Amino acid sequence: MAHPLQPGRLALGTATASFQIEGSATADGRGPSIWDTFCEVPGAVRDGSDGTRACDSYLRWEEDVDLVAGLNVEWYRFSLAWPRLMPEGTGRLEPRGLAYYDRLVDTLLARGIRPTATLYHWDLPQPLEDAGGWPERATAEAFAAYGAAVHARLGDRVELWASHNEPWCAAYLGYAAGVHAPGRREGGAAHRAAHHLMLGHGLLRQAIGDVEGLGIVCNLAPVWPETPEAAPLADRLDAVRNRVWLDPLVDGAYDDVLLDVAPELADPTVVRDGDLALIHGSADWLGINYYTPIRPALGTGGSEHPEGAAYPGVGDLDLVVRDPRTDIGWEIAAEGLEELLVQVHRRTGLPLVVTENGAAMADRERDAAGVVDDQDRIAYLRDHLAATDAAIASGADVRGYFVWTLLDNFEWAEGYTKTFGLVHVDRDHDDLPRVPKASYHWVADEAVRRGSSFRGVAGADGA
Ligand code: FCB
Repeated sequence: MAHPLQPGRLALGTATASFQIEGSATADGRGPSIWDTFCEVPGAVRDGSDGTRACDSYLRWEEDVDLVAGLNVEWYRFSLAWPRLMPEGTGRLEPRGLAYYDRLVDTLLARGIRPTATLYHWDLPQPLEDAGGWPERATAEAFAAYGAAVHARLGDRVELWASHNEPWCAAYLGYAAGVHAPGRREGGAAHRAAHHLMLGHGLLRQAIGDVEGLGIVCNLAPVWPETPEAAPLADRLDAVRNRVWLDPLVDGAYDDVLLDVAPELADPTVVRDGDLALIHGSADWLGINYYTPIRPALGTGGSEHPEGAAYPGVGDLDLVVRDPRTDIGWEIAAEGLEELLVQVHRRTGLPLVVTENGAAMADRERDAAGVVDDQDRIAYLRDHLAATDAAIASGADVRGYFVWTLLDNFEWAEGYTKTFGLVHVDRDHDDLPRVPKASYHWVADEAVRRGSSFRGVAGADGA
């Protein structure tokens, strides 16, 4: 079978994630996930909200497919809710959960949109966390069994798969910084989680065989030391932010700096014989989610910067954020995307997709005319698409660019306070009306202009 991503062409898409949009948290046999549990912890989510309703996309998926179709894009990237498909985390597939994704996939294809599914976008079934979560090897084994079972059912129609979304967040925000579910603050557990996430990917590859189209999505970031003295610290940070995922894929090894930062990865009871060989070469493509660069500076001693807790073992660091910033406080630097794509291309040789890029802007209200005129988001997207084009011109093999995100949704620890959507979701009305923003129309025009809409691609017929 041909690679689902055509070389030499940048296909546009948009992305979402199950927990952020679906709601219906107990419908049709869905079990609890670690995010359902975490949302109940007072103070864990900024506005005290949760995902029980989110965007109601479990109920309103047809309307959301219409919105994707109206965007003229070729790809829709969504994630599969493990607790909907395997409520206990292991064992039988829940037919009602499967039916939901069956319908979604069939409808997307019927509308001329190519589906790409992510198996794990952070909604770990709670029973698996109760048994220890990602720091335990059994979770990697459970993941591969879940992934293979779902791939067997949807793989005839979904050609492009990602195992994990942003394993750095799952491991380090979840188990070291504790600002994401499950909210644990154990640096060593986070390093073990990192290995088990990669092992889960490798075991999944082993289970499904060499069928083309399996990748992994990482939130890699360019690391720019704030001062020359911070360069060694930046190298240690780069090890745990970027190389921990890429090195086992490309080299089948963890490097010495990383082993110093994360001694757990040198422990043969954690990284067992054969694990790295399993991960080595196991991805057909690499997804990169890019939002912002990282600028480490030497810490001022004693207490670590709060986000420094997400880099256990790196050392005493500060993270500098320069202006301009988006509404979530992330520095805007499109040149970081260009640099990253060129470097990762050289490092991996894999076909690359920008699987997420987008911006939170202060646009939670409609103006008097009922419009959300998000020119700031349009400027962000335009600049980052131009950076992607520039990387391609420098030789990077980038085959897709997916906007994060279709709908204003549940933004994890920020709840509903930060909006990244191309479509405004009016939470003041009980039926959650969807109102496309100016950026939605801009992307729709850009997709046509670039000839990247599925319907506009010569020879593409949905097969
Ligand atoms: C990424 C996540 C995605 C969304 C964006 C803003 O880290 O993958 O779910 O929250 O950030």
